[in-house]
Amino acid sequence: MKTLAILGASGHGKVVADAALSSGLWTKIVFYDDAWPAKKKNGQSDVVGNTQSLFSAHEKPEVVVAIGNNMVRLAKQSELVAEGFAVATVVHSTATVSSSAIVGRGTVVMAGAVVNADARIGAACIVNSNAVVEHDCILADAVHISPGACLAGGVTVGEFSWVGIGASAIQLKRIGKNVMVGAGAAVVNDLPDGVTAVGVPARIIKS
Ligand SMILES: CC(C)(COP(=O)(O)OP(=O)(O)OC[C@H]1O[C@@H](n2cnc3c(N)ncnc32)[C@H](O)[C@@H]1OP(=O)(O)O)[C@@H](O)C(=O)NCCC(=O)NCCS
Repeated sequence: MKTLAILGASGHGKVVADAALSSGLWTKIVFYDDAWPAKKKNGQSDVVGNTQSLFSAHEKPEVVVAIGNNMVRLAKQSELVAEGFAVATVVHSTATVSSSAIVGRGTVVMAGAVVNADARIGAACIVNSNAVVEHDCILADAVHISPGACLAGGVTVGEFSWVGIGASAIQLKRIGKNVMVGAGAAVVNDLPDGVTAVGVPARIIKS
């Protein structure tokens, strides 16, 4: 029985657990979360300790971080790597990932997602349910592509950026670092670092 530890007993954590179990690579999930010991269950799996208990575990379990905040997720993953933990990459059995795509350590690819030819996805990313990352896209570390979002070929997305649910970007556009693309937006122009853009076509509403 191979166990995967998930740091973050959140709703997102439950979806990561489902993806991991569906892949057949793990048969048991345990959660660690700072809400423990008050929180003892997340979905069908047990919450068995907090962050401290994970870091001080005698035998280091294979682990993935399921924290929605992009910066916190990458920071926690980096701490785990520095402590010698094996960080898992999780791909749901119904996701399609091209054999020529690269998916980084600690990234999760959820049900129905598609990652096409020569796409490069960094570490600690989330490619959420039914998202599409087309051929030759480049995603930096700690990017979140929300459910149903769609990046056309050759789009680049900078570190910590979040593409909202159902949003899209046309081919070859560059989305900077720390960018928030609102739900349903259509990115038809490059977006600089640190902005929030919404609407069709996407317009910057915050810098
Ligand atoms: C873009 C977003 C982050 C803005 O949140 P915010 O900074 O709190 O901004 P506000 O809610 O104050 O909205 C500011 C303005 O933008 C508009 N707006 C917000 N989100 C919008 C969107 N997705 N599309 C169009 N307009 C939007 C608001 O109506 C408001 O307009 P107004 O000033 O005319 O009233 C948020 O609305 C959003 O789309 N989040 C994505 C959530 C998501 O994808 N979740 C998936 C989880 S897996």
